[in-house]
Amino acid sequence: MVEDIFEEEMNRRRIFKDTSILSPHYVPDELPHREAEIRNITRSIAPVLRNEKPSNLFIYGKTGTGKTCAVKYVMRKLKEFAGNQEKNPKGTVVKTVYMNCKVRDTKYKVLLKILEDEKLNDSELENTPLLDRPHKSLKGMDPGDLYDRLFNVVDSNKINLIVVLDEIDMIKKGFDDLIYILTRINDELKHGTVSIIGLTNDMKALRRMDPRSRSTLCQEERVFKPYNAVQLKTILQQRIEQGFQEDVVESSVTALIAAFAAQDGDARYALKLLSKSGEIARDESAPNVLNEHVEKAKEAVESDIIIEAISSLPEHQQLVIYSIASLTSEGGMYKRLSGLGGGDLFTGEVYEAYERYCNLLERKARTIRQFSEYLNELEMLGLITMRISGKGTRGTTRFIRLGYSPDEIRSILRKTLGLELRSPS
Ligand SMILES: Nc1ncnc2c1ncn2[C@@H]1O[C@H](COP(=O)(O)OP(=O)(O)OP(=O)(O)O)[C@@H](O)[C@H]1O
Ligand SMILES: [Mg+2]
Repeated sequence: MVEDIFEEEMNRRRIFKDTSILSPHYVPDELPHREAEIRNITRSIAPVLRNEKPSNLFIYGKTGTGKTCAVKYVMRKLKEFAGNQEKNPKGTVVKTVYMNCKVRDTKYKVLLKILEDEKLNDSELENTPLLDRPHKSLKGMDPGDLYDRLFNVVDSNKINLIVVLDEIDMIKKGFDDLIYILTRINDELKHGTVSIIGLTNDMKALRRMDPRSRSTLCQEERVFKPYNAVQLKTILQQRIEQGFQEDVVESSVTALIAAFAAQDGDARYALKLLSKSGEIARDESAPNVLNEHVEKAKEAVESDIIIEAISSLPEHQQLVIYSIASLTSEGGMYKRLSGLGGGDLFTGEVYEAYERYCNLLERKARTIRQFSEYLNELEMLGLITMRISGKGTRGTTRFIRLGYSPDEIRSILRKTLGLELRSPS
């Protein structure tokens, strides 16, 4: 009996060789189709190795185009080079601090992260920011003091510091001030330099920026283009070779995944599909990964994406989409009036349903105006589509249609909103 369950378990493992290769955080040794971008970034930052300040660099491109992994790749190579005595005989000190601004979303948090990072608190360095802080934190310290500490650690150790601000559009507070500080510090430093690499997939981020910050940050700019199907195939192939057992993934599978992901040119989506397809094949104890597993994986991945999108909405937007989902399940007024159906809802009936759910949860319903804003935002996220009604009995109203299965959306939100306990249905 015991033998059997282990045998089954071991068979299940046969699809993958090494699942860590498929993790979103894994940075491969080679990044196919990003050679030119990598060379470009390398060229931009290479002056640090001569103790010169490189230009600040701003990189944008759609999601999954390899911005984060390309920059991490170059940082890794830079560290290797700088740490090699033969290649860097003068021992020029180069440090990079990487952070994701989704988490460090204010000027203060960014500065704190730089100063608390282990790279600037290396035991080889003198005068490190945390030296006199036994609890290893600078939290609560005045921003001016943080600046002084940054100045001291860079100047006294002659550090050439590169700060990588990933998803830089997420910084909510003090953005312009931060860019200003990190740039102007170079005017005061006698030794060492500080430069910035900013990354974003939000094409509008640039336009929202103060022109001064913009010109400082974008001394150099790079755009990462979406991958096409052929490129995605190479990227997938590399992970298949390293992460899967030999010959378990059919070549038609690679082509199918690449074709799906090429719609947005998104390598992350391609890799998600690949690993999910493998998991499904493994769980079915199938000997190979087949197209049918990809089809199933696509559904599962898309549903994960929707769940994430909906779960991270603010509460009132969740209430709006919940109202839309409920009405869609019921068929809506349009169906009842015209007998035509088709899943279109009137704005008015959605607002009424929204008010009812607000009452149920003892929340104050927002105004129609705000409600319209919520609809626009939900449309931008692709969760609903809207169209203006033609001339009709009800004047100009908007028809709303849900982009996804109403039952799925309701089941996700019933729990989050706490409607499980209150709603009779
Ligand atoms: N050229 C490539 N070769 C191998 N893997 C790649 C390549 N480009 C991207 N990837 C992989 O695809 C995934 C997404 O890449 P990455 O995180 O760098 O995208 P991004 O441009 O930073 O996206 P976002 O804007 O959403 O942050 C990662 O797992 C990464 O390792
Ligand atoms: Mg990224």
